[in-house]
Amino acid sequence: MRVAMIGTGYVGLVSGACFADFGHEVTCVDKDQGKIAALERGEMPIYEPGLNELVAVNARAGRLKFTTELASAVKAADAVFIAVGTPSRRGDGHADLSFVYAAAREIAGALDGFTVVITKSTVPVGTGDEVERIIREARTGCDCAVVSNPEFLREGAAIRDFKHPDRIVVGSTDQRARAVMTELYRPLYLNRSPILFTDRRTAELIKYAANAFLATKITFINEIADLAEKVGADVQEIARGIGLDNRIGSKFLHAGPGFGGSCLPKDTLALLKTGLDNAAPLRVVETVVAVNDARKRAMARKVAHALGGELRGKTIAVLGLTFKPNTDDMRESPSIPLITALQDMGAKVRVYDPAGMEQAKAHIGDVAFCRDAYSCAEGASALVIVTEWEQFRALDFARLKDVMERPVLVDLRNIYRPEEAARHGFAYESVGRARKV
Ligand SMILES: NC(=O)c1ccc[n+]([C@@H]2O[C@H](COP(=O)([O-])OP(=O)(O)OC[C@H]3O[C@@H](n4cnc5c(N)ncnc54)[C@H](O)[C@@H]3O)[C@@H](O)[C@H]2O)c1
Repeated sequence: MRVAMIGTGYVGLVSGACFADFGHEVTCVDKDQGKIAALERGEMPIYEPGLNELVAVNARAGRLKFTTELASAVKAADAVFIAVGTPSRRGDGHADLSFVYAAAREIAGALDGFTVVITKSTVPVGTGDEVERIIREARTGCDCAVVSNPEFLREGAAIRDFKHPDRIVVGSTDQRARAVMTELYRPLYLNRSPILFTDRRTAELIKYAANAFLATKITFINEIADLAEKVGADVQEIARGIGLDNRIGSKFLHAGPGFGGSCLPKDTLALLKTGLDNAAPLRVVETVVAVNDARKRAMARKVAHALGGELRGKTIAVLGLTFKPNTDDMRESPSIPLITALQDMGAKVRVYDPAGMEQAKAHIGDVAFCRDAYSCAEGASALVIVTEWEQFRALDFARLKDVMERPVLVDLRNIYRPEEAARHGFAYESVGRARKV
């Protein structure tokens, strides 16, 4: 099949490269000329493990092309995916659909022959109706079908997730469109990833319901962690104890500094707006959002607590800036409000991240960017682990102790055991584990 992917970001580039790897002919379109020029030189605009090789192989085979020319890519395509951003709209938290609608208008002008237009971006329920209205208004009598096909990949494991999804959701009642979607995803279907066919509105809501549920699960275990600290229990054992129950499941039960990233924060907010607009308020999700917001600054108080309550004039080293490991994505990372709160309390902040340093520069200021974990720790009164990158899992404690002003470790991802830190002479704070040392 010939595929045009409109928007070559985290989702569009990974999806485009994977579809090409399945044998389809894919053209990835982006209006960002710098991004397309870099891709044509073989340089990845994002950090995603395995992406470089996947893009190189398929570009070499002639199945994956990059362009800023939307019209020619759409004209030639059987399937056109919209994978542009849908950030939170400034001011009210609604999803900003201006990129989606602009793409729909451009696509409408270029359609040629029966084409399936697929919204892969995360969009509020009813957006597919509006995309279809825009296209039909611009091209009366156009032979096309508008489908919802939300994406569930996770940054950091995006290729694996795309190629081995738990499910593929296709929202359309049009039989021709369903046939095209089945053909596009055939290799996965053969691998037994279930395709769930629904109507379009249901597919749109599945995506938001999934993300809101995941955000709820994280927030639930975070609150249990706070209680565990107060009553002398261990949240990791609680997570295991409840996660082994199949009805609950063990995933997304890691207590930490609160959820962030490019999806959960904006998608929970957008879902709340949809609920209010439809007189079906989602009280559970409202609470999840509020609890999570409060949590990020509360983590700075945890750091202060580890140092006797006072941060003024102290140097704090922060390890990990991205919202999770194996990505360079800084959008809504918990590290951002944490660092601001530390600075508000008078601390000087040194930071290090294995992949997110460049992106971080747009989000945090007045910090010292360091070249590795050990230079970051120099002169610090506390070392705070915010993102659980593999390279932070086996830090050389003796080396850290040599360069730090005080051996204090605040482990917001529970990657060390309290006894281990104590053995190395570190005062240790973590999340949801009563202080035994
Ligand atoms: N990032 C994730 O992990 C993830 C996972 C699942 C779903 N999603 C959803 O997928 C969508 C895309 O997310 P992302 O993280 O890939 O965004 P992104 O910001 O990384 O990429 C969007 C790209 O679209 C381009 N673009 C915007 N308007 C365009 C137009 N008219 N023509 C061509 N290109 C255009 C931008 O230049 C940008 O490169 C969002 O709705 C998001 O919620 C993201």
